Amino acid sequence: MLHGPNLNLLGSREPSVYGRVTLAQLDRLIREHARRRGMRVECRQSNVEGQLVDWLQSAEGAGFGGVILNPGAYTHYSIALRDAVASIKLPVVEVHLSNVHGREEFRRHSVIAAVARGQISGFGTQSYLLGLDALAALARARPLARARR
Ligand code: DQA
Repeated sequence: MLHGPNLNLLGSREPSVYGRVTLAQLDRLIREHARRRGMRVECRQSNVEGQLVDWLQSAEGAGFGGVILNPGAYTHYSIALRDAVASIKLPVVEVHLSNVHGREEFRRHSVIAAVARGQISGFGTQSYLLGLDALAALARARPLARARR
């Protein structure tokens, strides 16, 4: 689980848009949801674009099966993050707390969406849990896809 810039301020940052749940509380919800589904999750946050690129590049080598990414404002303009997502084999699910398509014009375009497996936007903290469910569904579908070949 990779949280991008400013998400460390969750809980106090624009609560009318992002809610009152802090990042620590959100990470707890994510870990509990993962545990109930028999998944293991590691939650990381950075305000630094290159750090997020490094984590994406090293995810497969570190043994992860997929990445849930909230790129924050980088969603809308970071070609470096987009290229990192496109470069790795792991499925990446883009998530947003707010419905980026119903907000300012500049938030309606994601440079990540075209290279992510999919985008979940607008369900608050549930967006992350739905992201986990999406990765679990992909993992269940993968052995079937192999068996069919
Ligand atoms: C966000 C939406 C982005 O536009 C914004 O810059 C964020 C948070 C969300 O989760 O709704 O930092 O990614």
